[in-house]
Amino acid sequence: MKDKIIVALDVDTRDKAVEWVKRLKSDVGCFKVGKQLFTSTGPEVVRKIKSEGAGIFLDLKFHDIPNTVAAASIEAVRLGVDMFNVHALGGYEMMARSADAVRDEAERLAIKKPVFIAVTVLTSMSDESLREAGILTPAADEVRRLALLAKRAGMDGVVASPREIRLIKEACGGDFIVVTPGVRTSLSASDDQVRVMTPGEASRAGADYLVIGRPITKAADPVAAVKAISEAMCPE
Ligand code: C5P
Repeated sequence: MKDKIIVALDVDTRDKAVEWVKRLKSDVGCFKVGKQLFTSTGPEVVRKIKSEGAGIFLDLKFHDIPNTVAAASIEAVRLGVDMFNVHALGGYEMMARSADAVRDEAERLAIKKPVFIAVTVLTSMSDESLREAGILTPAADEVRRLALLAKRAGMDGVVASPREIRLIKEACGGDFIVVTPGVRTSLSASDDQVRVMTPGEASRAGADYLVIGRPITKAADPVAAVKAISEAMCPE
């Protein structure tokens, strides 16, 4: 189960990130480098974490015109990340051109193609906040629509809330990868996440990977927290 856990390195310095990697690398599958850490330290942090022998999910959620996202995606492949993402709302052409570019670049470099996924609807969004942004469809329907679009564009899977895992697997097939943030060990400590589930529920619903930040990094004993999460994910 531990290979399914991705720890979000939501910290501001390279040293703090590397410290977390050293502490947790034998108990988790990989580490997520997101906007805060990448903006503060640059791509060097990815190389450093890789040199520790840990896997990397680069969570920059590219969302731009197709040419720009395809070019940025090629750079992510060159950086050697294991997984990275775009926003599905960038549209079919943005995803399809980028997916092709990723495949071609990995083949040219003769390296394993990174898992390339699309964010559907952020786990911090409710139906109400979607409406405020002009999206009148309920979150679940929007997620289904965007997951199908991502699949058609040749993406390997999507990021969605644990509540939508089953509907995505039903719509897109069991081997379409679902990565889920919004995982909470206690539903009371949801922070800014809205569409949440526990690790056990998310895993049993079919999640391929769980992205977990604060429930691990803010725990009194983070190693014990990771182990408890792995255990909770085992089938009953
Ligand atoms: O601390 P927490 O467990 O909420 O961290 C979740 C991580 O997953 C954060 O780094 C956040 O940026 C990321 N994420 C998310 N929702 C998405 C995609 C990524 O919460 N749809």
